[in-house]
Amino acid sequence: MAVGIFDSGLGGLTVLDAVAKRLPEVPLVYYGDNAHAPYGVRTADDIFDLTTRATERLFDAGCDLVILACNTASAAALRRMQEGWVPQGKRVLGVFVPLIEALTERHWGDNSPPREVGVKHVALFATPATVRSRAFQRELAFRAIGVDVEAQACGGVVDAIEEGDMILADALVRSHVDALKRKMPNPDAAVLGCTHYPLMEEVFQDALGPEVKVFSQASLVAESLADYLERRPEMRGPGTESAFLTTGNPKNVSNRATQFLRRRIEFVAA
Ligand code: DGL
Repeated sequence: MAVGIFDSGLGGLTVLDAVAKRLPEVPLVYYGDNAHAPYGVRTADDIFDLTTRATERLFDAGCDLVILACNTASAAALRRMQEGWVPQGKRVLGVFVPLIEALTERHWGDNSPPREVGVKHVALFATPATVRSRAFQRELAFRAIGVDVEAQACGGVVDAIEEGDMILADALVRSHVDALKRKMPNPDAAVLGCTHYPLMEEVFQDALGPEVKVFSQASLVAESLADYLERRPEMRGPGTESAFLTTGNPKNVSNRATQFLRRRIEFVAA
């Protein structure tokens, strides 16, 4: 009954951690494509090829349902995958929709017309590829009207986190928040639209100020997955073992993952 969780690197561990807490009985197979991170500077075709390769590997590991715990892959590849690539009996879901449902105060399956919501000025922090795709704005427009979104492409942050250089990551986050504030001085909400960024959530919150509500995906995705599996229990695949797979150097990736999750994580070669 395993579920697959995919990210270009370490960021999806923020989602894995929340899912493991919410659904402790479900074996989880994680795939980090660390050898090819960051995805945020790649083309959509490249992201599609890498994401489908990883997803295939998770299907082989006994997962019928794969969560793309990567906004960049969700923005650049998911729709194309769902429209013609996902084999019958398998399912691939992204991380955008739970976040946007939370932001627009909706429950799953509420397809009523777009309406006014509480937030008016939203700052979106994401990778260059996610910002370029405008997928966030598109999903938001299906559900809300009158929301002004200012997007900030946060170049370099994923690379710094993957390298374990948290001092550089801190400095980059602060400079991206400054750049955003020059375009939108008073956002009322901020969306961390990359699963690596919850690892820097305190820095984002500190730089934005206490009056800005910061939305990050991990717990929202975990809640939405729990709800999905309740409605579709047959999507728990045949796999019985949890595992951590990486295309990078397993020793280095394990050390960084252990540091981030504050528990011993052992990656093996994908
Ligand atoms: N965690 C990925 C995301 O959510 C990072 C993408 C990247 O590798 O640039 O977008």
